[in-house]
Amino acid sequence: MNFQNYFKNKTVLITGSGRGIGLEIAREYLNHGAKVIALDINTKKLLNLRKRYKNKILIEKLDLINLNDLKNYLKKLPKNFKNINILVNNAGMKSAKNLIETDINNLNNLINFNSIKVIEISRILINFSLKKNKGKIINIGSSLSSHGAVFKAQGGGSDYSVTKSMVHIITKIMAYECAKFKINVNAIAPGIIQTPMHARPMRETEKKHLAKIPLNRIGLPKDISGTALFLGSNYSSYVTGQIIHINGGMLMIG
Ligand SMILES: NC(=O)c1ccc[n+]([C@@H]2O[C@H](COP(=O)([O-])OP(=O)(O)OC[C@H]3O[C@@H](n4cnc5c(N)ncnc54)[C@H](O)[C@@H]3O)[C@@H](O)[C@H]2O)c1
Repeated sequence: MNFQNYFKNKTVLITGSGRGIGLEIAREYLNHGAKVIALDINTKKLLNLRKRYKNKILIEKLDLINLNDLKNYLKKLPKNFKNINILVNNAGMKSAKNLIETDINNLNNLINFNSIKVIEISRILINFSLKKNKGKIINIGSSLSSHGAVFKAQGGGSDYSVTKSMVHIITKIMAYECAKFKINVNAIAPGIIQTPMHARPMRETEKKHLAKIPLNRIGLPKDISGTALFLGSNYSSYVTGQIIHINGGMLMIG
Protein backbone atom coordinates (compact mmCIF):
# COMPACT_ATOMS: atom_id res chain seq x y z
CA MET A 1 0.00 0.00 0.00
CA ASN A 2 1.23 3.50 -0.76
CA PHE A 3 0.42 5.98 1.97
CA GLN A 4 2.64 8.74 0.66
CA ASN A 5 -0.18 11.08 -0.22
CA TYR A 6 -2.75 9.72 2.19
CA PHE A 7 -3.29 13.10 3.89
CA LYS A 8 -3.04 15.24 0.78
CA ASN A 9 -6.37 16.97 1.38
CA LYS A 10 -5.89 17.36 5.13
CA THR A 11 -4.56 20.16 7.27
CA VAL A 12 -3.11 19.40 10.70
CA LEU A 13 -2.43 21.88 13.50
CA ILE A 14 0.20 20.68 15.98
CA THR A 15 0.99 22.54 19.20
CA GLY A 16 4.54 22.41 20.59
CA SER A 17 5.92 21.10 17.31
CA GLY A 18 9.25 22.94 17.55
CA ARG A 19 11.13 19.89 18.82
CA GLY A 20 10.76 16.37 20.25
CA ILE A 21 7.58 14.41 19.69
CA GLY A 22 5.64 17.30 18.11
CA LEU A 23 8.36 17.96 15.55
CA GLU A 24 8.37 14.29 14.52
CA ILE A 25 4.58 14.23 14.22
CA ALA A 26 4.79 17.32 11.98
CA ARG A 27 7.47 15.64 9.84
CA GLU A 28 5.41 12.45 9.42
CA TYR A 29 2.22 14.28 8.46
CA LEU A 30 4.16 16.31 5.87
CA ASN A 31 5.77 13.11 4.66
CA HIS A 32 2.31 11.68 4.06
CA GLY A 33 1.04 14.65 2.07
CA ALA A 34 -0.70 16.78 4.75
CA LYS A 35 -0.43 20.52 5.17
CA VAL A 36 0.88 21.36 8.63
CA ILE A 37 0.44 24.38 10.88
CA ALA A 38 3.29 24.19 13.38
CA LEU A 39 3.04 26.29 16.55
CA ASP A 40 5.74 26.72 19.16
CA ILE A 41 7.55 29.32 21.21
CA ASN A 42 10.75 28.08 19.59
CA THR A 43 10.53 27.48 15.85
CA LYS A 44 14.21 27.17 14.86
CA LYS A 45 14.21 23.42 14.17
CA LEU A 46 11.07 23.74 12.06
CA LEU A 47 12.96 25.75 9.45
CA ASN A 48 14.47 22.54 8.08
CA LEU A 49 10.97 21.25 7.41
CA ARG A 50 10.15 24.51 5.59
CA LYS A 51 13.20 23.96 3.34
CA ARG A 52 11.98 20.51 2.42
CA TYR A 53 8.21 20.94 2.32
CA LYS A 54 8.06 24.62 1.32
CA ASN A 55 4.50 25.93 1.14
CA LYS A 56 3.02 22.82 2.76
CA ILE A 57 3.99 24.09 6.22
CA LEU A 58 3.10 27.25 8.13
CA ILE A 59 5.36 27.97 11.08
CA GLU A 60 4.29 30.35 13.81
CA LYS A 61 6.18 31.44 16.90
CA LEU A 62 3.33 31.58 19.34
CA ASP A 63 3.07 31.33 23.12
CA LEU A 64 0.07 29.18 23.93
CA ILE A 65 -0.22 30.69 27.39
CA ASN A 66 -2.15 33.49 25.72
CA LEU A 67 -4.87 31.97 23.59
CA ASN A 68 -5.95 35.35 22.20
CA ASP A 69 -2.80 35.13 20.09
CA LEU A 70 -3.96 31.77 18.76
CA LYS A 71 -7.45 33.13 17.99
CA ASN A 72 -5.97 36.12 16.14
CA TYR A 73 -3.58 33.88 14.26
CA LEU A 74 -6.39 31.59 13.11
CA LYS A 75 -8.35 34.59 11.79
CA LYS A 76 -5.40 35.52 9.58
CA LEU A 77 -4.68 32.06 8.19
CA PRO A 78 -4.32 31.92 4.41
CA LYS A 79 -7.33 30.38 2.71
CA ASN A 80 -5.57 27.13 1.81
CA PHE A 81 -4.74 26.45 5.49
CA LYS A 82 -8.07 27.46 7.03
CA ASN A 83 -9.76 24.12 6.66
CA ILE A 84 -8.08 22.37 9.61
CA ASN A 85 -9.07 18.69 9.94
CA ILE A 86 -6.81 17.40 12.69
CA LEU A 87 -5.64 18.97 15.95
CA VAL A 88 -2.72 17.51 17.86
CA ASN A 89 -2.57 18.89 21.41
CA ASN A 90 1.07 18.05 22.01
CA ALA A 91 2.60 21.03 23.87
CA GLY A 92 3.41 20.23 27.47
CA MET A 93 5.63 21.35 30.30
CA LYS A 94 7.63 19.06 32.55
CA SER A 95 7.74 19.48 36.30
CA ALA A 96 8.78 17.25 39.17
CA LYS A 97 7.35 18.50 42.45
CA ASN A 98 5.55 16.68 45.23
CA LEU A 99 1.89 17.56 45.64
CA ILE A 100 2.22 18.05 49.37
CA GLU A 101 5.09 20.52 49.01
CA THR A 102 4.70 22.32 45.73
CA ASP A 103 3.66 25.94 45.59
CA ILE A 104 -0.06 25.99 44.76
CA ASN A 105 0.33 28.81 42.22
CA ASN A 106 2.92 26.73 40.35
CA LEU A 107 0.61 23.73 40.45
CA ASN A 108 -2.26 25.83 39.12
CA ASN A 109 -0.09 27.13 36.29
CA LEU A 110 1.00 23.61 35.38
CA ILE A 111 -2.57 22.29 35.39
CA ASN A 112 -3.62 25.32 33.38
CA PHE A 113 -1.00 24.68 30.71
CA ASN A 114 -0.87 20.87 30.49
CA SER A 115 -4.57 20.14 31.02
CA ILE A 116 -6.95 23.10 30.79
CA LYS A 117 -5.30 24.38 27.60
CA VAL A 118 -6.15 21.05 25.98
CA ILE A 119 -9.82 21.83 26.58
CA GLU A 120 -9.52 25.47 25.55
CA ILE A 121 -7.53 24.84 22.36
CA SER A 122 -9.86 21.99 21.41
CA ARG A 123 -12.89 24.24 21.91
CA ILE A 124 -11.38 26.93 19.71
CA LEU A 125 -10.58 24.44 16.95
CA ILE A 126 -13.88 22.57 17.23
CA ASN A 127 -15.71 25.79 16.46
CA PHE A 128 -13.14 26.98 13.93
CA SER A 129 -13.35 23.98 11.58
CA LEU A 130 -13.32 20.55 13.24
CA LYS A 131 -17.07 20.42 13.69
CA LYS A 132 -17.65 21.28 10.05
CA ASN A 133 -15.00 18.77 8.92
CA LYS A 134 -15.90 15.90 11.28
CA GLY A 135 -12.30 16.17 12.36
CA LYS A 136 -9.97 14.47 14.79
CA ILE A 137 -8.40 15.54 18.06
CA ILE A 138 -5.28 13.78 19.30
CA ASN A 139 -4.07 14.63 22.79
CA ILE A 140 -0.69 13.69 24.17
CA GLY A 141 -1.00 12.30 27.68
CA SER A 142 1.57 10.18 29.50
CA SER A 143 1.65 6.43 30.03
CA LEU A 144 3.30 6.31 33.42
CA SER A 145 1.70 9.43 34.83
CA SER A 146 -1.66 7.81 35.36
CA HIS A 147 -0.13 5.03 37.47
CA GLY A 148 0.84 6.15 40.94
CA ALA A 149 3.10 3.23 41.70
CA VAL A 150 5.70 4.31 39.16
CA PHE A 151 5.99 8.00 39.95
CA LYS A 152 9.65 7.55 40.78
CA ALA A 153 10.41 5.77 37.52
CA GLN A 154 9.79 8.69 35.21
CA GLY A 155 10.98 12.14 34.23
CA GLY A 156 8.06 14.14 35.53
CA GLY A 157 6.91 14.13 39.14
CA SER A 158 3.62 13.99 41.01
CA ASP A 159 2.44 17.42 39.84
CA TYR A 160 3.13 16.56 36.18
CA SER A 161 1.38 13.21 36.66
CA VAL A 162 -1.76 14.93 37.90
CA THR A 163 -1.88 17.12 34.80
CA LYS A 164 -1.38 14.23 32.40
CA SER A 165 -3.95 12.02 34.15
CA MET A 166 -6.30 14.92 33.62
CA VAL A 167 -5.50 14.85 29.89
CA HIS A 168 -6.64 11.22 29.80
CA ILE A 169 -9.99 11.86 31.45
CA ILE A 170 -10.47 15.06 29.41
CA THR A 171 -9.93 12.92 26.29
CA LYS A 172 -12.66 10.46 27.28
CA ILE A 173 -15.18 13.10 28.26
CA MET A 174 -14.51 15.24 25.20
CA ALA A 175 -14.83 12.14 23.01
CA TYR A 176 -18.26 11.60 24.53
CA GLU A 177 -19.29 15.22 24.03
CA CYS A 178 -17.84 15.45 20.51
CA ALA A 179 -19.38 12.22 19.23
CA LYS A 180 -22.47 14.11 18.09
CA PHE A 181 -20.24 16.20 15.81
CA LYS A 182 -18.53 13.04 14.49
CA ILE A 183 -15.25 14.30 15.89
CA ASN A 184 -13.00 11.53 17.22
CA VAL A 185 -11.00 12.40 20.32
CA ASN A 186 -8.18 10.10 21.42
CA ALA A 187 -4.94 10.34 23.34
CA ILE A 188 -1.52 8.87 22.91
CA ALA A 189 0.17 8.08 26.22
CA PRO A 190 3.92 7.90 25.62
CA GLY A 191 6.24 6.00 27.95
CA ILE A 192 9.85 7.16 28.16
CA ILE A 193 10.73 8.87 24.92
CA GLN A 194 14.14 10.39 24.31
CA THR A 195 13.45 14.09 23.64
CA PRO A 196 14.90 17.43 24.78
CA MET A 197 12.26 17.42 27.55
CA HIS A 198 14.46 14.93 29.45
CA ALA A 199 17.52 17.10 28.88
CA ARG A 200 19.99 14.26 29.29
CA PRO A 201 22.01 11.94 27.01
CA MET A 202 20.44 8.67 25.80
CA ARG A 203 22.95 6.59 27.79
CA GLU A 204 21.81 8.18 31.04
CA THR A 205 18.14 7.60 30.19
CA GLU A 206 18.95 3.97 29.39
CA LYS A 207 20.82 3.50 32.65
CA LYS A 208 17.88 4.86 34.57
CA HIS A 209 15.05 3.03 32.84
CA LEU A 210 16.10 0.21 30.51
CA ALA A 211 15.72 -2.64 33.00
CA LYS A 212 12.00 -1.86 33.31
CA ILE A 213 11.25 -1.90 29.57
CA PRO A 214 10.52 -5.37 28.07
CA LEU A 215 11.34 -4.20 24.52
CA ASN A 216 14.72 -3.25 25.92
CA ARG A 217 15.08 0.21 24.44
CA ILE A 218 14.09 3.77 25.16
CA GLY A 219 11.37 5.14 22.88
CA LEU A 220 12.05 7.66 20.13
CA PRO A 221 9.73 10.35 18.79
CA LYS A 222 9.16 8.23 15.67
CA ASP A 223 7.67 5.52 17.90
CA ILE A 224 4.84 7.97 18.62
CA SER A 225 4.28 9.60 15.24
CA GLY A 226 2.91 6.48 13.48
CA THR A 227 0.07 6.24 15.98
CA ALA A 228 -0.58 9.98 15.54
CA LEU A 229 -1.02 9.31 11.81
CA PHE A 230 -3.34 6.38 12.48
CA LEU A 231 -5.51 8.46 14.83
CA GLY A 232 -5.74 11.23 12.21
CA SER A 233 -6.69 8.79 9.43
CA ASN A 234 -9.93 7.15 8.36
CA TYR A 235 -8.51 3.84 9.61
CA SER A 236 -9.42 5.00 13.12
CA SER A 237 -12.91 6.32 12.37
CA TYR A 238 -14.49 3.92 14.92
CA VAL A 239 -11.88 4.68 17.58
CA THR A 240 -12.77 7.39 20.07
CA GLY A 241 -12.20 8.09 23.76
CA GLN A 242 -9.17 5.78 23.81
CA ILE A 243 -5.82 6.22 25.47
CA ILE A 244 -3.18 4.42 23.44
CA HIS A 245 -0.13 3.57 25.53
CA ILE A 246 3.21 3.43 23.71
CA ASN A 247 5.82 2.42 26.25
CA GLY A 248 7.80 -0.63 25.06
CA GLY A 249 5.73 -2.80 27.39
CA MET A 250 6.76 -0.94 30.55
CA LEU A 251 3.12 -0.97 31.59
CA MET A 252 0.67 -3.43 30.07
CA ILE A 253 -2.76 -1.91 30.30
CA GLY A 254 -6.06 -2.89 28.77
N1 LIG B 1 9.36 12.65 26.26
C1 LIG B 1 8.67 11.84 27.04
O1 LIG B 1 9.21 10.88 27.61
C2 LIG B 1 7.21 12.05 27.24
C3 LIG B 1 6.49 11.07 27.96
C4 LIG B 1 5.15 11.22 28.17
C5 LIG B 1 4.50 12.34 27.67
N2 LIG B 1 5.19 13.29 26.98
C6 LIG B 1 4.44 14.44 26.46
O2 LIG B 1 4.64 14.55 25.07
C7 LIG B 1 4.51 15.92 24.67
C8 LIG B 1 5.76 16.32 23.91
O3 LIG B 1 6.88 16.11 24.78
P1 LIG B 1 8.40 16.19 24.33
O4 LIG B 1 9.11 15.16 25.11
O5 LIG B 1 8.52 16.24 22.86
O6 LIG B 1 8.76 17.60 25.00
P2 LIG B 1 9.68 18.79 24.53
O7 LIG B 1 9.89 19.63 25.73
O8 LIG B 1 10.88 18.27 23.82
O9 LIG B 1 8.73 19.55 23.49
C9 LIG B 1 7.63 20.31 23.93
C10 LIG B 1 7.44 21.48 23.00
O10 LIG B 1 6.38 22.30 23.53
C11 LIG B 1 6.76 23.65 23.35
N3 LIG B 1 6.10 24.55 24.29
C12 LIG B 1 6.26 24.56 25.64
N4 LIG B 1 5.56 25.59 26.18
C13 LIG B 1 4.95 26.22 25.13
C14 LIG B 1 4.11 27.37 25.04
N5 LIG B 1 3.78 28.09 26.12
N6 LIG B 1 3.64 27.75 23.83
C15 LIG B 1 4.02 27.05 22.71
N7 LIG B 1 4.81 25.97 22.74
C16 LIG B 1 5.28 25.57 23.93
C17 LIG B 1 8.27 23.65 23.60
O11 LIG B 1 8.90 24.83 23.08
C18 LIG B 1 8.69 22.37 22.92
O12 LIG B 1 9.06 22.57 21.57
C19 LIG B 1 4.32 16.71 25.97
O13 LIG B 1 2.96 16.95 26.16
C20 LIG B 1 4.87 15.77 27.03
O14 LIG B 1 4.32 16.04 28.29
C21 LIG B 1 6.54 13.17 26.75
